[in-house]
Amino acid sequence: MTLRALPGKKIHIEPFRIEILKMREPQTRKAVPNMRKTLIAANWKMYKTPDEAVAFTKAFIPLIAGHKHAEIVLCPSPTMLPTVVDAVRNNPIHVGAQTMHWLDQGAYTGETSPLMLKAIGVTHVLIGHSERRQYFNETDESVNLKLKSAFAHGLIPIVCVGEQLAEREANQTAEVLERQTSIALEGIDPATAQSLVIAYEPVWAIGTGRTATPEIAADAHKIIRAQIAKSLSPALAASTRILYGGSVKAENTASLCCLEDIDGALVGGASLDAASFGQIVINSAA
Ligand code: PGA
Repeated sequence: MTLRALPGKKIHIEPFRIEILKMREPQTRKAVPNMRKTLIAANWKMYKTPDEAVAFTKAFIPLIAGHKHAEIVLCPSPTMLPTVVDAVRNNPIHVGAQTMHWLDQGAYTGETSPLMLKAIGVTHVLIGHSERRQYFNETDESVNLKLKSAFAHGLIPIVCVGEQLAEREANQTAEVLERQTSIALEGIDPATAQSLVIAYEPVWAIGTGRTATPEIAADAHKIIRAQIAKSLSPALAASTRILYGGSVKAENTASLCCLEDIDGALVGGASLDAASFGQIVINSAA
């Protein structure tokens, strides 16, 4: 099945998705693509050495040449941020950190500050990834401090939210997403939050091969967008990009990225290989 979303753009949809799309038309078609440029981010977690990162960029850059529809961000470990910044220079690829402290400096062994990230050319930062929440005690409150700091320093924040399996099974998904989003946004002046990006990452879909169906993802994105409208403003809710993350692969990118409320993807495992991540970028043009 082929739909036309924009002049010159086609959406290819797997046959088994057609029923869902029929049910949801016309609101499933992207209505505001220019306002919310697709963002595809690679979260490399604790993988790759600097040599491997450079080899990745050499293979990846030619693959995405000419694909201007998406903002592309690579998030490597802090040890290779400068290497990756150098390797992608003069190419339409941005570099993001996987986390940061909210303070500019101080006696915080092992931490990286927003000033340090800015100084080496990093432009984006992941905040509150579920692995940071689960293994490193990040809380909704620390996410809020980091988000304010990212805005103050002009870093583009990608704030991760998402429910655990037990929470979904207990019908608490909306409550969890509303709580995580509202605390993250507490005390933030909408005028400073234009660059906000949220990533919906259901914890049960991360690294498990279980992807949320487009329907589940679209519903969660609607809940998050409604909370942004409440916490900040309806205008900001309409312009904020909300990404989906959790077992995104080249094969499921188009069916997720063509939905109205999904503005891109945060990709873990499938972003480690240049060919696979390149295909995800290409397929996100949907
Ligand atoms: P995954 O990870 O794509 O390997 O599920 C996504 C993430 O953790 O951001």
